[in-house]
This record gives sequence, C-alpha cells and structure tokens, in this order.
Amino acid sequence: MIDLEKFLSRRGRAMHASAIRQVGDIGLAHADLISLAPGFPDPQLFAWDEFRAIADRLLSGSDGSILQYGATRGYQPLLDALPEILSHRGIRATNTEVIITTGSQQALDLCARVLTDPGDVVFVELPAYTGAMTAFGNARAQLVGVRQDEQGIDIADLDRLLVGKRADGRRAAIVYVVPNFQNPTGLLMNGSRRSELLAWALRRDVLIVEDDPYGALYFTDLTSRDETRPIKSQDNEGRVLYLSSFSKTVAPGFRVAWIAGPQPLIARLEVAKQSADLCSGTLDQRFVYEVWTSGALEAGLPRLRTAYQTKRSVMEQALRAELGNAATWVPPKGGFFLWATLPGIDTKALFGRALQHKVIYVPGSPFYVDHGGHDRIRLAFSAASPDQIRNGIRRLADALREEREATDPGRAEGARDGRHSAEETPASTADQ
Ligand SMILES: Cc1ncc(COP(=O)(O)O)c(C=O)c1O
Repeated sequence: MIDLEKFLSRRGRAMHASAIRQVGDIGLAHADLISLAPGFPDPQLFAWDEFRAIADRLLSGSDGSILQYGATRGYQPLLDALPEILSHRGIRATNTEVIITTGSQQALDLCARVLTDPGDVVFVELPAYTGAMTAFGNARAQLVGVRQDEQGIDIADLDRLLVGKRADGRRAAIVYVVPNFQNPTGLLMNGSRRSELLAWALRRDVLIVEDDPYGALYFTDLTSRDETRPIKSQDNEGRVLYLSSFSKTVAPGFRVAWIAGPQPLIARLEVAKQSADLCSGTLDQRFVYEVWTSGALEAGLPRLRTAYQTKRSVMEQALRAELGNAATWVPPKGGFFLWATLPGIDTKALFGRALQHKVIYVPGSPFYVDHGGHDRIRLAFSAASPDQIRNGIRRLADALREEREATDPGRAEGARDGRHSAEETPASTADQ
C-alpha cells in the first residue's frame, strides 16, 4: 500500500472540507428526507422557458465562440453590462474594474490567494459563511471572529481585535462581511453600521471584502431596496472588493459571479484566475448575459422576492406552532435562511436524531471560528416547498422532544407543554 499522505503538501494536508457540503451530501444519500440544510434556490423558480429559448439560440451551431475558450477576465459583453447592474445598487464601476468568476466561491478563493499569506489575519463575523472560512482557512490565513449583534458587525470589538493583532506584529488588513441577509444568520446590517465600518476601514487602513449574493432578494414586508445598498456604494477610494453572483437570481448551475474593485487588484485577481481555470464557462456566461439582456432577470426578481418571503413566513408559522418557545430567532428580512436558537440543545447532537426523523439542517457551530454556537441551527427555507417546510419542522420538533427526553426528562415535559399550547403562544415569544 503506498503512503499517499507523504505526497501532500502542508497546505493540502491542512485543508478542511466545507461543513455545509458534507451535510448536503447526506441529503442526497437518503430518499424521503426533507432537507432544510443547503442554501439552494428553488428550481421551480428558475426561468425554464427563457432558458430553453436561449439554449436553442445559443446552440444552433452558427457561432463556434459559444463553446470556445474565452478571456480570463470574462465574456466582454457581460463585463460591459456589469457597470449598469452595479449602478442599480448605487455602485459606480467601469468595465475595467470588474472580473467574472466561477461562482462567488471562486471569488473568495482568489481573494484568499491574492490578499493573504499564511498566518495573516482575516476578520470574519461570528458566525460567518463557512465557504469563506474554508477559502481563507485553506490559504492558511488566521481567521479571527468578531462579535455581531442584530445591526451587524461590532466595530468596537473589531477595532480591539485589530489593535491586539497588530501589536503582536501580525499582518491584519482584511475584513470579510456579508451585510445583506447574511449566511447563516439572515441578518441585514443597518445603514449606520455600514458607514461606520467603511469609516473604520479608512482610519485603520483595512480592505473590506463585501460578499453580496442575496441583496436582490429582500422581503418587502420587512425592508426595502434602499436598506440593501452595499457598502461599496459609499466607497470613493477603493477600500472595498465587492463580490456578487447570479447563483441566487438566475441559477447556481451556471456558476457565474463577479468581483468589482479597484483596477490594480482586479488585475492581480485575473492573474490568479488564469491558473485556476483559464476562464469561467463560456456557455454559462453567454446564458447569463442573454437572461440579463432579455430583461428576464430584472423582471423575475419580484416573483423571487415574493416566493421566498412566503416560504420564510411558512417556516416561521411552523416553528411557532411546533416548537412554541423552544426556539427564538430574528425574523429574516431577505435571503434564504432562518437562524434559530434552541436554548439548552446541542444542535450537533440533535442532528443524528433529526436524521432518523428524516429531516436535516446545518448545526450552528461550523459557522463559528471560535467553535461557539452549539445551540444554534440554520434552517434554509429556500428550496423546500411550503408542505415540505411544514413537515420538516414537525419532524424537527419530534426529534427535539426525543432529544429532550433523552438528555433531560424534566425539561422535556416543558417542551411538550410548549407544543400543546402552541395555539396560544404569542408570536412575540418566538419573534424576538
Ligand atoms: C455568502 C455566500 N457567499 C458566496 C456563496 C457562493 O455562491 P456562488 O454560487 O456564487 O459560488 C454563497 C453560497 O451559498 C454564499 O451564501
């Protein structure tokens, strides 16, 4: 037997798999399972008719460039369209200040490789998107978790940590944030926190990596487009690398996303991309471009917002009915996720029992660089149907009762009481 480990680099050996991907694989392996785990868009909301018509046009065979290698920076007409797409979000950028990437996940990987050396500090929120944690972690950056409250990242904590790291002689110059409907918490950073963060970054000479895949999916019952204006829209000096994606608004299978930022950094990211994939899929980019120029993307957004808002409400109602006051959460104002606290429950331990009941979710702790969040749970309402959401939450409640009985029989009675009195449970108990 060959010792294959010896062929691995230190970097290769230290690489971590994504916790969300692992949970997603479990979902694929079990029939009849309700998955509230991965943040997939609802395939029923894809613009199938439009896609079919575009496929017919693109694959007629009359234009060979459609299946040819393309420029590393991206398909030029799509690059030329990005300034207009960005201007709808209040961002000014030219077509030389953007690059197409193979999903935002590649954008994160390129940022990690171009901006950090092993041991450099990258500040992330507590909790943070695990895909960013793996990208920066696999580049062997040191991830430092910063507290956040309902309004967003805690600037005082961030400053304290930065000063401490710099005093220790560490290179600490990157902060990664998801201000719009964060993965996993669904939180919307408020306007003043955004301005404060940018002002802080200028003062402390820090670069902000702003990741915004969900901003277009705001829920009009709780917020408005104005509140989703990216930090990048206030950035006059090139302090922000802005990442966004067509995954949640067109379809993730196309793997088309982009970065907007100062030209010299975009040029460096382009060089890193050359060795990653030469170019993003040409057909994918052409597809997305066609969806955009046809007007189908913009026209489809209200339908997406309404559909995901409805599912969010279905999940909240189911949680109130089934779990009573055994769960608390901040109502999501957009995006794909509901982030709940189940006081006194280890959600990793609960996972096995939930799987037996044929429902899965993502436990909280993988999202914390300090391994906290044991009683948190990320529930995606995006891909499941309303019926699946209701059934899934019912199964989760059954698993939770069993877990309580197994670990703390006294409290299990309370949980059961909570369920039986769910009709009378005021919305405000669970809506905190
Ligand atoms: C915050 C965040 N960033 C990046 C990504 C990656 O998206 P993409 O499909 O564009 O690679 C995701 C996917 O869920 C995400 O939630």
